[in-house]
Amino acid sequence: MRIGEISLDNPFVLAPMAGVTDLPFRLLAKKHKAALVYTEMVSAQGLVYGNQKTHRILDSDPFEKPLSVQLFGSDPSVLAEAALMVQDNGADLIDINLGCPVPKIVKNGEGSYLMKEPSLVAKIVRRVSDSINVPLTVKIRKGWDRQSVNAVEIAQIAEDSGAQAVAVHGRTRDQYYSGKADWRIITKVKEKCKIPIIGNGDVTNPKECLVMLGEVGCDGVMIGRGAMGNPWIFSRSLSYLERKRMPSEPSVPEKIMTAISHLHKMTAYKGETRGVKEMRKHAAWYIKNMRGAAKIRNKLNQAVTADQMEKILLDYGESLTGVLKEGWMAEN
Ligand SMILES: Cc1cc2nc3c(=O)[nH]c(=O)nc-3n(C[C@H](O)[C@H](O)[C@H](O)COP(=O)(O)O)c2cc1C
Repeated sequence: MRIGEISLDNPFVLAPMAGVTDLPFRLLAKKHKAALVYTEMVSAQGLVYGNQKTHRILDSDPFEKPLSVQLFGSDPSVLAEAALMVQDNGADLIDINLGCPVPKIVKNGEGSYLMKEPSLVAKIVRRVSDSINVPLTVKIRKGWDRQSVNAVEIAQIAEDSGAQAVAVHGRTRDQYYSGKADWRIITKVKEKCKIPIIGNGDVTNPKECLVMLGEVGCDGVMIGRGAMGNPWIFSRSLSYLERKRMPSEPSVPEKIMTAISHLHKMTAYKGETRGVKEMRKHAAWYIKNMRGAAKIRNKLNQAVTADQMEKILLDYGESLTGVLKEGWMAEN
């Protein structure tokens, strides 16, 4: 897939997820072959008015390139100013969030609210794309609600106004994350646009990735929740695409050691207290569906130091495999 001047190694991309796709997680996704990673959504206003916490979201590492920084906002000139700042900070692509369903965002006329304002979308995309020289993309939903499904219209407006790719999440705003994502709307968008279309919603395994590319007809596949505790989804999907044989699932030791490596990246970047706290949810995702995971999750939630969390994970791996941790730690 090619977005403007940016050529991606494969069609699989990590979705922007607030509270999840921070620098440590993006680095892991990249290590496991995600072709493109997005930051958590960043407030354009927060950037322009110098909010320190907002600026921290822009921290990046050369290894994760190409990096897309996602902005949210509603004022075309503020978004354009923020986009310039982000470009100067090294972003390879800039994405505008037209899909966030959260009330706090929507009531400010931002995120998915903009699905109701096609002419404002045109102004925003035109203004921002004229201000920057890296590719601009947008991420949209199926529509606001069942009565106003307009993904095709919004995607075409974005394309006509200068967007170079559109990611489509096949749910309306009022569905939030419930129900099933409608992949037919993604096909409809693809049929009407010339720029690359990235399909999104409920892709959780390599087979579904290939359906998105084949039957749905997308140029790229964006994976969100399916990558939580599962960065292998990118490398496994790529392998399945290239070899047409389903690669094996990661082993228990592989998952445990990846969780530990993630933990170390987290604490190095965020400090021990915050890193361990934020790692609790990730660690729980890594062990999801393993035998006795609920009990271990409770223990992980009480861990306050990296050593404690690491020991819980290693002991758990030992109990599940029946093999002393020294036997598998070095291999993974
Ligand atoms: C915890 C969480 C945070 C999210 N944050 C963002 C965000 O910052 N920007 C955005 O465009 N979408 C955000 N999303 C939506 C995802 O990018 C994606 O569109 C959605 O989860 C559907 O894809 P999936 O089924 O692969 O998860 C978020 C989703 C989740 C679950």
